[in-house]
Amino acid sequence: MKEALLPKPLLTIDARNEVFICQEESQFYAQCLESMVFKYCDATDTVVEFGAGDGGPVISALLKNDFNGIIHGFELNYPSYELARSNIKKYHLEDRYVVHNRCFFNDLRLEANYLIANPPYLPAPDNNLYIPSLHGGTDGADITKRLLSLGYQNVMLMISAYSNPIEVVNYAADRGYKLVDFMLSPLRFGYYSCEPKVRAAIAELRRRNQAFYSENIYFLSGVLFRKDSESDLDLSEEFIKVMTIL
Ligand SMILES: C[S@@+](CC[C@H](N)C(=O)[O-])C[C@H]1O[C@@H](n2cnc3c(N)ncnc32)[C@H](O)[C@@H]1O
Repeated sequence: MKEALLPKPLLTIDARNEVFICQEESQFYAQCLESMVFKYCDATDTVVEFGAGDGGPVISALLKNDFNGIIHGFELNYPSYELARSNIKKYHLEDRYVVHNRCFFNDLRLEANYLIANPPYLPAPDNNLYIPSLHGGTDGADITKRLLSLGYQNVMLMISAYSNPIEVVNYAADRGYKLVDFMLSPLRFGYYSCEPKVRAAIAELRRRNQAFYSENIYFLSGVLFRKDSESDLDLSEEFIKVMTIL
């Protein structure tokens, strides 16, 4: 189990409409957590997570790291929350990873050094989608920008090249963030991004130079933003160059 992400429960096609299921994407999010967050945290650090899903990515990253701090995850969707709770129990991580079945934004802003998320980034005119809570606004970047407006010092977010990435980076810079690290992975368009109204929204964004992809793939990136960083390092330009290459 140390190497692989959590085995998924037996799922039918319909389950994809209840719980976010994309093994490739969740696994990449876990790798980003491992390499850009947990590796550098110590026991005094606290982490909050927007959208825990089934808890798999955080559990997988925790099992490969010595991070001993606590992570508070928030998950709106009840079936996902239930899965997360049972997975946490299965791996005896109850004292390190606590998931709450609540909207992240309804809670008082929890004190934490890190905010982490693979946020909903599907662009569409409305949230009438296979899973409504995967809707990221008309350009897919609404939740991402909202998370960047909360003022956490370190924010590690997954950003898709078809969800207005240039505007996201500019938005972060306007709020005092430097882009200090990132990892990139090519992904195939999957079940959720192939829903016809999402595909149509992505094509429209491309016409406006707000979505970047090829016929076969798009880039998903894990990005670490840091506020009040003592270092001058800011990889925003390089990030935009690679994210817009397709
Ligand atoms: C792209 S999925 C990522 C799930 C998981 N982190 C993963 O990578 O496998 C985004 C998750 O955010 C949840 N979500 C959406 N809006 C939310 C909110 N306001 N508060 C908490 N969770 C939310 C969705 O239900 C969904 O499970």
